Amino acid sequence: MNLKCVRCGRTLDASISAVRCACGGLLEVRHDLGELDADELRRLWTGRRASLAPEDRSGVWRFRELVAPPGEMVTRGEGNTGLYPVPELAGWAGVGELFLKHEGENPTGSFKDRGMTVGVSAAKRVGARVVACASTGNTSASLASYAAISGLACVVLVPAGKVSGAKLSQATAYGARTLLVRGNFDAALSLLQSMADELELYVLNSVNPWRLEGQKTVMLEVLEMLGWRAPDWVVLPGGNLGNTAAFGKALEEARDLGLIERLPRMAVVQAEGAAPFVRAFESGWTDLRPVLPETVATAIRIGNPVNYPKARDVLRALDGVAVAVSDREILEAKALVDRSGVGCEPASAASLAGLKKLRERGVISEGSRVVCVLTGHILKDPDATTWYHSGCFEHSNQPVEVEASEQAIRTVMGRL
Ligand code: F0G
Repeated sequence: MNLKCVRCGRTLDASISAVRCACGGLLEVRHDLGELDADELRRLWTGRRASLAPEDRSGVWRFRELVAPPGEMVTRGEGNTGLYPVPELAGWAGVGELFLKHEGENPTGSFKDRGMTVGVSAAKRVGARVVACASTGNTSASLASYAAISGLACVVLVPAGKVSGAKLSQATAYGARTLLVRGNFDAALSLLQSMADELELYVLNSVNPWRLEGQKTVMLEVLEMLGWRAPDWVVLPGGNLGNTAAFGKALEEARDLGLIERLPRMAVVQAEGAAPFVRAFESGWTDLRPVLPETVATAIRIGNPVNYPKARDVLRALDGVAVAVSDREILEAKALVDRSGVGCEPASAASLAGLKKLRERGVISEGSRVVCVLTGHILKDPDATTWYHSGCFEHSNQPVEVEASEQAIRTVMGRL
């Protein structure tokens, strides 16, 4: 196992503490795939689900052969999340079969925990004292928790006034030093990266290659649950594009190892007001032009995604597409995911909204078997949910206040 720079191609030892190459390029973890056997891995990984050992119970570390060197593992038993078949939503979107992979079921309520268990373990391995991130909310909540259980100090930079209160409350409650930066996420991340050496901070944004190794396991679990038969499409929301990079890497490695016979296609969905990746895709992969981001889905309110080079290569390799959806479409899709009983935060629902749009455009065909990834829990942004249901949208479900009397209840109840 070693690290390779995706820009200059230099190979580096896996034990280094730097998270970027000296040339400024992104690093990628390289595994010795030649030594691994697909049948053996399938047996080993699924077998570990019956074990009570923390490193086996974790839905990240049970795939450790494709994740990170074993050693001290800072784990909360993350992963092993549900894959829900949702025939009614498949009908709404117009596809043959639809599954929702619910990453909101992780310990702090988002997919970030899969990356943090590996990233914070790496921080311990390299002897870091303080871990840090910039965040639209979920990364900070997750890092704060994993830092607390590992005994590391933690600093998080979040855009002032643009993070859901639920996420902010997690970061502060888990004990992170929380800085409300008067600027957007991109500004906060840029500041953090330029000051990390001076302040001796170990950066745990998705520029950190170990984080992405953890996030790969979302795809390994999906493939395992589908009997190692790839779906036709994987659809996910895109912000800083860490998942796009990680999921693509997982799928390519799975194909190279013979775990699956063919690659699925991938669709990355961004909010219209924060869609630099979609613009780059539509213009034939010219350089990324950063935008000033704005969207109700604050988790993906990102205008200058750091993982652009990796994500672009993934879309090319997987014959993928990128599509933008409006805030209204995101909220409608969220209302439907919520109403199905599964539930998610606004950014997550971009995946379902994007699926519908791509189906309408004929990019995704009628009989397709699709997995939409839900990235965060329904309780991550209760204000957005309450706002929707107190309004006059198609799927609004307003609560009714009544007098405390049998007659009043009889009157308003009607027939259900
Ligand atoms: N969905 C949710 C719920 C997120 O929190 C994020 C990113 C994304 C999607 C986008 O994922 O960056 O891998 O493309 N949240 C980060 C944060 C930026 O700070 O919590 P991506």
